[in-house]
Amino acid sequence: MSANIAEMERRREAARMGGGQKRIDAQHAKGKLTARERLDVLLDEDSFEELDTYVEHDCVDFGMESQKIPGDGVVTGSGTINGRLVYVFSQDFTVFGGSLSKRHAEKICKVMDMAMRVGAPVIGLNDSGGARIQEGVASLGGYAEVFQANVLASGVVPQLSLIMGPCAGGAVYSPAMTDFIFMVKDSSYMFVTGPEVVKTVTNEEVTQEELGGAVVHTTKTSVADLALENDIEALLAARDLMGFLPASNQSELPELPTTDPWDRMEDSLDTIIPANANMPYDMHEVIAKVVDEGTFFEIQPEHGANIITGFGRIEGRPVGFVANQPMVLAGVLDINASRKAARFVRFCDAFSIPIVTLVDVPGFLPGTAQEHNGIIKHGAKLLFAYAEATVPKITVITRKAYGGAYDVMASKHLRGDLNYAWPTAEIAVMGAKGAVEIIFRKDRDDPEKIAEKTKEYEDRFANPFVAASRGYIDEVIYPHSTRKRIALGLRKLANKQLENPWKKHDNLPL
Ligand code: HXC
Repeated sequence: MSANIAEMERRREAARMGGGQKRIDAQHAKGKLTARERLDVLLDEDSFEELDTYVEHDCVDFGMESQKIPGDGVVTGSGTINGRLVYVFSQDFTVFGGSLSKRHAEKICKVMDMAMRVGAPVIGLNDSGGARIQEGVASLGGYAEVFQANVLASGVVPQLSLIMGPCAGGAVYSPAMTDFIFMVKDSSYMFVTGPEVVKTVTNEEVTQEELGGAVVHTTKTSVADLALENDIEALLAARDLMGFLPASNQSELPELPTTDPWDRMEDSLDTIIPANANMPYDMHEVIAKVVDEGTFFEIQPEHGANIITGFGRIEGRPVGFVANQPMVLAGVLDINASRKAARFVRFCDAFSIPIVTLVDVPGFLPGTAQEHNGIIKHGAKLLFAYAEATVPKITVITRKAYGGAYDVMASKHLRGDLNYAWPTAEIAVMGAKGAVEIIFRKDRDDPEKIAEKTKEYEDRFANPFVAASRGYIDEVIYPHSTRKRIALGLRKLANKQLENPWKKHDNLPL
């Protein structure tokens, strides 16, 4: 018996050592943790239960039959984050560069299947040289099976990818199909073809970081949601995010006790809107004053910053916030903002997270750059996302709600449940100046008349009462009571019942 146990321990130790001390040291020298060290940070202490520790590849080409390392380059299993179950896989770069063999893929698919069966999130820690070159098509098949599992899990259990090393070629498509991607600055990159191929094909000289590093993907491309300084920060951010998400699309939202009074009044909100309608203010401040303890987890803060998306809590329960940001491009809706918010709204709806929308939007961004890049289709994504969402939707118009953007931003007409406006709201087809220039074009050389008509237009439309008189706004509220109104609304909407007509799936404008 003791010999058997000793054998098990010997094998476990071999698995723990992965590709050996030299490669572990090399990993550390790059500022990276090992696959197992990362799981120690991600999961609650002693909660990790490993599966498939002894799995090995079955490749016999290129001398691989004599190179077998238990676990085959990925550590898989389950554990808890703040006591809540999650399934995990963590690629081990010290074993064949974390490259994906058929067996490695099967291990990932196994934890994904388990997660789906029991209703728990999947967190993937990616650090891999891509397809196991020695295995050829068997590895490609393995990737495709992971992709298939990602797609079936989408909208069923939350999926989070942390990119903590190389992620290149077709391998990028697994994280790309998960709900959120966090990247580590300077040590991770994602691209379909690397700098060498780029140089050969297009003659461009570019570094890995410039082509697909964390900063590029969180500012330019929006492939990734957050860029973190190092492994530990990324893993701690993953723990934080998980605190806002349900275990599955069938699970209750996680609640946290809070001491923040649900009816807390915030008098400073009564004066946050500047007297001049063209002056900005920081919508982050409004969010911070509304959510429990001012805690907000922002998604994609560096991309499309003219719209803010992220999670907060009200009365301890998670809420998705979407808010125009007057500080950036006057809060206008453009392609980036529309795509970013559309994906966020769809995530919230898939996982029954109520959506609070704060509106201060002057319209869609004009220009050939926007039109020729398809603002029509991209703007439609956000419209589509709000219109199909059946979760509780509470909207507060703080200032501008102009034109099509008024409709798009969770208006009453898109089944907004509670649509509030502050007294400073201006709900109109467009701003007074633009409107008067069009309606009174013939008087454009008469500044007095133009000024008079602008004033008349402002008096008539630069307020929430025309919309409120039609019932498009349910109530004009004191800004200081916003948190209380939202909290009450969410309580009342907790048992909201609304279903869309049966369909195989919709045809989102892509
Ligand atoms: C097998 C691999 C490997 C791979 C790395 N290794 N990538 N083994 N298959 N894909 C091994 C190396 O042989 C080495 O083994 C160890 O991992 C570490 O690699 P190094 O090159 O020493 O590390 P580093 O200098 O940090 O460079 C990392 C790297 C580089 C940039 C990832 O290894 C690399 O370019 N690898 C190949 C990447 C690639 O072309 N992959 C296929 C892409 S196509 P030893 O024993 O020396 O430690 C693809 C298609 C997916 O992925 C399609 C899905 C649909």
